[in-house]
Amino acid sequence: MNYFLPKNYEIKSPSSDKEWESYFETRWKVLRAPWNKIKGSERDEMEENTFHLMIIDGNFDAVACGRLQMNTPEVAQVRYMAVLDQEQGKHLGSILMHGLEVKATTNGASKIFLQAREVAVPFYLNCGYSILEKTFLLYDEIQHYSMEKLLLKEQ
Ligand SMILES: CC(C)(COP(=O)(O)OP(=O)(O)OC[C@H]1O[C@@H](n2cnc3c(N)ncnc32)[C@H](O)[C@@H]1OP(=O)(O)O)[C@@H](O)C(=O)NCCC(=O)NCCS
Repeated sequence: MNYFLPKNYEIKSPSSDKEWESYFETRWKVLRAPWNKIKGSERDEMEENTFHLMIIDGNFDAVACGRLQMNTPEVAQVRYMAVLDQEQGKHLGSILMHGLEVKATTNGASKIFLQAREVAVPFYLNCGYSILEKTFLLYDEIQHYSMEKLLLKEQ
């Protein structure tokens, strides 16, 4: 992974209340608001037991976020990958994925599984994931594809 963060940007796990607020706001803005879903719909019951990463800009606002959960000791899953519209295409998503993959490897996972929105499939292919199958429709319109990537022991 040869991508670098823009100047003044930082990758970190949210820790303060302000960071958590900004983290979920960005998840909601990208993945829920365009479908008129209410605030809170961007969260699930696993938030406290999962690993979160975000990229903050020079104003300490989250511009990108993503979550990793362990489905089994060997299989991790990436969920809720979101980069603000105006920040897309700057490799922030790739940098986040790399961070989540390093964490999965550290946790002992040998594989990452995910459910990709159709528009994001080329992004995940670019990150080294393979398509498994066409899966579900979210909100009656967003087609998903299951994808996976085998992790190397050293990254
Ligand atoms: C999908 C998403 C996370 C990718 O993050 P990003 O920061 O925009 O992606 P990157 O800049 O790291 O892209 C990495 C590579 O994938 C390619 N890529 C990214 N999104 C793409 C798309 N929709 N179509 C085609 N190629 C794409 C980029 O061109 C880039 O290739 P390059 O290295 O040759 O320049 C982000 O665009 C996003 O949040 N989209 C909206 C929400 C969404 O669909 N989330 C995923 C839910 S499963």
